[in-house]
Amino acid sequence: MQDKILSLLTEINDFEIINKETLEQFKRNYTSKKGIITTLFEELKQLDKSEKALIGKSLNELKRRAEEKERYYQEKFETNYSREPYDLTLKGITQSEGSRHPIQITLHKIIKIFSEMGFQIAEGPEIEDDWHNFTALNFPHNHPARDMQDTFFLENPNYLLRTHTSSVQVRLMEKKELPIRAIMPGRVYRNEEITARSHCFFHQVEGLVVDKKVSYADLKQTLEWFVQKLFGRDTKIRLRSSYFPFTEISAEVDITCFICGGNGCSVCKHSGWVEILGCGMIDPQVLINCNIDPEQYSGYAFGLGIERITMLLHKITDIRLMDQNDIRFLKQFHYFSLS
Ligand code: PHE
Repeated sequence: MQDKILSLLTEINDFEIINKETLEQFKRNYTSKKGIITTLFEELKQLDKSEKALIGKSLNELKRRAEEKERYYQEKFETNYSREPYDLTLKGITQSEGSRHPIQITLHKIIKIFSEMGFQIAEGPEIEDDWHNFTALNFPHNHPARDMQDTFFLENPNYLLRTHTSSVQVRLMEKKELPIRAIMPGRVYRNEEITARSHCFFHQVEGLVVDKKVSYADLKQTLEWFVQKLFGRDTKIRLRSSYFPFTEISAEVDITCFICGGNGCSVCKHSGWVEILGCGMIDPQVLINCNIDPEQYSGYAFGLGIERITMLLHKITDIRLMDQNDIRFLKQFHYFSLS
């Protein structure tokens, strides 16, 4: 009898149940009242006590296995064929909507304004060489910006993480597809202490125009238009004389504080003005470095920090919030993502 049980176990395991009909067949053969297992239980009664215990155990195991298989397929076919496929009373799964990062929101605004003025968008590598980041831009060899304190150099010190997007200016000018009218957004790196106001990486948008007869007035006009589009029509600009190795003349641009309207508040440190970018006319030597004839062509460039502008626009007081991915911070920009 033990052999019979064993061969039945294999038979049950191998029995292929593919639909309701084969399931019914399975029940008839094995688990129903007239099935073989019931018959075997009848036969068990005839055995003498010594065998009963052992064979009874195997038989129970066989029964358990057959019933388990039957139940599995029973449920499977019920779900597939006889139950309602959908439970319309179930509560739905709410998908929480994401939002754009505030830096992306500002960048999109900036891109939109400049594309409307006919600027194209260009990009360059974040790992730069000394030529594009410094030398072509007239940085003297002893310039402090080249210092280890400011720049992240790679193992080969000829390569570095770009410290500004002005390196892309050089790349564009070297291509010599003149005239140029482009903005260049991207991430930049500086070996600075991370505080509420400064970070070791941040984002800039560089602007570059090279053409015949480009003047300082063009630069000023373009920036004024940009600022009024971004911060509001009443915003005024002020150009303060400054110094950059690659521009001559150079200036820093302040705008009237759009938070207090120029009356003085904590954002503008009660001066009524906030600084937003650096700019200037391209130094003729930089044009020469890029094989452009300064007798024929002139140009202007500007560079602005996206974090700084974003912080001003949204009154954010700590730059570190920008890269912490704290959902409580990010979800506040949901509304702005839509515009
Ligand atoms: N590259 C300068 C900076 O990082 C900004 C700048 C760009 C100034 C273009 C003038 C012209 O501060």
